[in-house]
Order: sequence, then structure tokens, then C-alpha cells
Amino acid sequence: MSTYVVVGASRGIGYALLKKFSSDPANTVVGIVRTPAPTEEQVRKDGLNATIVQGDMTNYRSLLSAAEKVHKPVDYLWVNGGHLHDDTAGKFFTDYTVDNYDKMTDDLRKGFETNVLGVINTINAFLPLVQKSEIKKVITLTTGLADDNLTRDYGIWETAAYSVGKAATNTVIAKYDAKFRSEGILFLGISPGVVDVGKPSSETGQNLGAKFYKYSKGLKVLKPEESVEAMLKVVDESRAEGDGGQFYSHLGRHQRWL
Ligand SMILES: NC(=O)c1ccc[n+]([C@@H]2O[C@H](COP(=O)([O-])OP(=O)(O)OC[C@H]3O[C@@H](n4cnc5c(N)ncnc54)[C@H](OP(=O)(O)O)[C@@H]3O)[C@@H](O)[C@H]2O)c1
Repeated sequence: MSTYVVVGASRGIGYALLKKFSSDPANTVVGIVRTPAPTEEQVRKDGLNATIVQGDMTNYRSLLSAAEKVHKPVDYLWVNGGHLHDDTAGKFFTDYTVDNYDKMTDDLRKGFETNVLGVINTINAFLPLVQKSEIKKVITLTTGLADDNLTRDYGIWETAAYSVGKAATNTVIAKYDAKFRSEGILFLGISPGVVDVGKPSSETGQNLGAKFYKYSKGLKVLKPEESVEAMLKVVDESRAEGDGGQFYSHLGRHQRWL
């Protein structure tokens, strides 16, 4: 019996986390979403044991007020929400002319606001509740695309803006670990693998897919539920001492990304 907060729980991996945690009726499960009504409706339809609370990762006050509503020790804080840059994933920094340069800076800024500042806002708002728990695990979704070795070795220039933001996310996680490991709080980044969250296939996706297959012949596109099962095993095995501040994959501690 544990208390789980999933931030960015409206769909995709976040909603699958909500489903998984609520399968044990003894758990307290809270999903934080920007727009509650549709998720509340889905939760009702699916019969989940989960409460939905409004909160936007880019709005610190909204998260403080969400934390106030949760108002009990949080064992597992999952910082799942992310800005995905879907429409510009196939554009590189040199693809912008002086006339549309604002589009690139705006895109980078939006990624930073959610994937870096948003992660900090979320952790800061819920940290006092995590500190009250005996378990104290803060898990943030990141991506193997932020691994510069992968970028170099497989020529992955795609998703440039997204990867830059998520690399900063990883540094944020390492900094929180450096500050709070002594309190026994685990701060962990985890890459979920390639997960099908129902987005249409794109040319960028196909190009990336070919590079991923070169990296891992055994690559499997996962359903959100499969990714969740795999990540939970890694989180279960991870401790502040020894794993704090790391950036692991769903395949395990210090394993390949795919
Ligand atoms: N799918 C993959 O293959 C993959 C691979 C590597 C990493 N990831 C990471 O895994 C996480 C989940 O991705 P996904 O594939 O499930 O994506 P998704 O289906 O696009 O869902 C993204 C989620 O983030 C939420 N969100 C975005 N901005 C937010 C904000 N400011 N405040 C609160 N919630 C916000 C969205 O809420 P709204 O409904 O309000 O927009 C949505 O619930 C992300 O951090 C992503 O970077 C995914």
C-alpha cells in the first residue's frame, strides 16, 4: 500500500502508470493533469482507483495547490509530462532561415519550460510530501536520445531541440541527487524505450527507427503497459545510495537504451 503521484497523467505512458498503480485498491493514486475533465471521464469509464487533480508543470502555483490537495506523504513521485516537439523533430538547427528563426527559439524555449523548469517546479512542489515518506522515490521520464554517445555513434541529429532539453533534465536529476541523497531520497531518470502512444508515423520517425534498428537489432516498439512494467522493475531495484542521480533505461540499470 503506497501513495503514487503521476504528473502529466492524461494519456500515453502517464495514463498507463495511473492504471497500473490503481490496480491495487489499497494504493492512493493521484494523477496531475492540465485539463482534468477528460481524464476524470476516462478514469471513471475505466473504473480506476485514482483521483485527478489540476496542475501544469509550467505553473508552479498550480503544482503547489495540487500538492496541498494531495496532503499526505508521497512514496513515489513520477514526473512524466514532457513537451515532445513532434512538429519539429525532423528539423535541425540549421534548417531555420532568418525569417523563421523565432520558430526555433520558441520551440527550444517551450521544451525548456516543460522538460527542465517544469521538472524543477514539480519536484519543488512535491518535495515536502516526498520527504515525509519512508520510501522517497522521485522518477523522471527522460530519453536515450539525450545520450551524446548514442548521438555521435549513430548520427542521430534528429530531435535536436528535444534531446538538448532532456539532457538538461538529466543534469537537473543529478543535482537534486547531490543535494538530497543524504536524506535517502532516490532521484532517478528513466528512459521508457520506444513506446507507441498512438501518434501517426512520420518520416522522422522512420529515419530514427532505421538508426535505432542499427543500434539494437532486437528493438521492440512497446505498448505503454509493457514499458511501465519494465520501468517499475528498474525503479524497484534502485536505491538512493548507488543509483541516485542516474539515467537508466527500461531494460535495467546501466543497460542499453533499446
Ligand atoms: N513515447 C516514447 O517513445 C518516449 C520515449 C522517450 C521518452 N518519453 C518520455 O516519456 C514521457 C511521456 O511521454 P508519452 O510518450 O507518453 O507522451 P504523450 O502521449 O505525448 O503524453 C505527454 C503527457 O505530458 C503531459 N504534459 C505535457 N506538458 C505538460 C505540462 N506542462 N504540465 C503537465 N502535463 C504536461 C501531456 O498532457 P496534456 O494531455 O495536457 O497535453 C501528456 O499527458 C515524456 O516525458 C517523454 O519525453 C517517451
